Amino acid sequence: MNDAEINAAKEHFGKILKEQLMRVEDMKASSGWMDYSKLDRLVIGVVGGDGIGPFISKHAENVLKELLRDEIASGKVEVRTIDGLTIENRCKQLKAIPDEVLAELKKCHVVLKGPTTTPKKGDGYPNIESANVAMRRELDLFANVRPVRIPEQNVDWTFYRENTEGGYILGSKGVDVNEDIAIDFTVATTQGSERIIRLAFDHARKTGVNRVTVVTKANVIKRTDGKFLSVAERIAKEYPEVKWDDWFIDIMTAKLIDPYRRADFKVMVLPNLYGDILTDEAAQIQGGVGTAGSANIGSRYAMFEAIHGSAPRMVDEGRAQYADPSSMLKAAAMLLNHVGFLEKGRKLEMALDLCTQFEKRIKMTGRSDGATGEEFGRYVLETVERKDLEEAWKKASS
Ligand code: IPM
Ligand code: MG
Repeated sequence: MNDAEINAAKEHFGKILKEQLMRVEDMKASSGWMDYSKLDRLVIGVVGGDGIGPFISKHAENVLKELLRDEIASGKVEVRTIDGLTIENRCKQLKAIPDEVLAELKKCHVVLKGPTTTPKKGDGYPNIESANVAMRRELDLFANVRPVRIPEQNVDWTFYRENTEGGYILGSKGVDVNEDIAIDFTVATTQGSERIIRLAFDHARKTGVNRVTVVTKANVIKRTDGKFLSVAERIAKEYPEVKWDDWFIDIMTAKLIDPYRRADFKVMVLPNLYGDILTDEAAQIQGGVGTAGSANIGSRYAMFEAIHGSAPRMVDEGRAQYADPSSMLKAAAMLLNHVGFLEKGRKLEMALDLCTQFEKRIKMTGRSDGATGEEFGRYVLETVERKDLEEAWKKASS
């Protein structure tokens, strides 16, 4: 390796350090949470995305609009379609999020987003950054909240995945130092760790669960995971009533599939990449990644989405209409709860429990031997509107 290569890498490192220091300053300066109840009009943006995205988003949008019919009619809520966040447009502009799309997103208070395709090295697309990752960063959506529930097994997990730092924040800013050495970076900041850990503890306290599990690999990744864990130790002191423990990601991954232990875990808080992986596992246990929704929350904006990808294979094979919209419907319920429509959010959640776990009058298989997303969307709508929804849900879940 020659001096020029080393110097280029050093210079690159200096530049990203400066950016990260600026981000820390922004976090320090950030002012409190958005209060949706004070808005004259709440603007909800709907982004279809790629692959099966536009199909499943459409069904979630329909249900959302139905639940908000009165608020939309009175102008208290506006549901707005945002176009242009497609893989074609992103590749054409070589931007993770085209400028005009980002500007539109910033005019909304909350966004319901279908999955977007993320190019990876060697798949023929230009190697642009993931739209998800860019959106989480641009809108500072630092908390990725992913609930997974299996009532009949007593499983009730809420994952608080750190959403802006870790291996993701500089995921597109690693260096190929020379032909032989590639280096990526992972970042943990005190401020970034504090805010996600605090949110997890707040949730545990507010819901009376009073239990938090911190997941890292601090025995090996000593600096960044070490920081995450020591920040957790400090924050935990502010919540004496919340019991907490820490686990390493490898054994945690095993424990989630241990039928004797898994129901013990309740609220889990973890760095970005571990959260990405563990929540796919958790969703699979619940019935597949298609069944889980996800909230990306920041103090100013929030975005709600499926936890899975755009499934281009389903589209190529002509099966997009059979894609399961449950994940997007869960995301819509989380959106409703987040902006304060708690009654509507709860209704949608109960309806989804009935449709996907208890009653299951319609079965989705992802293929033509199962129901279409449209049929499933209608089933959920009918269930939401049932007069006996509450009783039916209570009976089924007791
Ligand atoms: C998720 C997804 C994204 C992530 C991808 C699409 C970049 O897997 O939301 O979990 O890794 O965060
Ligand atoms: Mg993921």
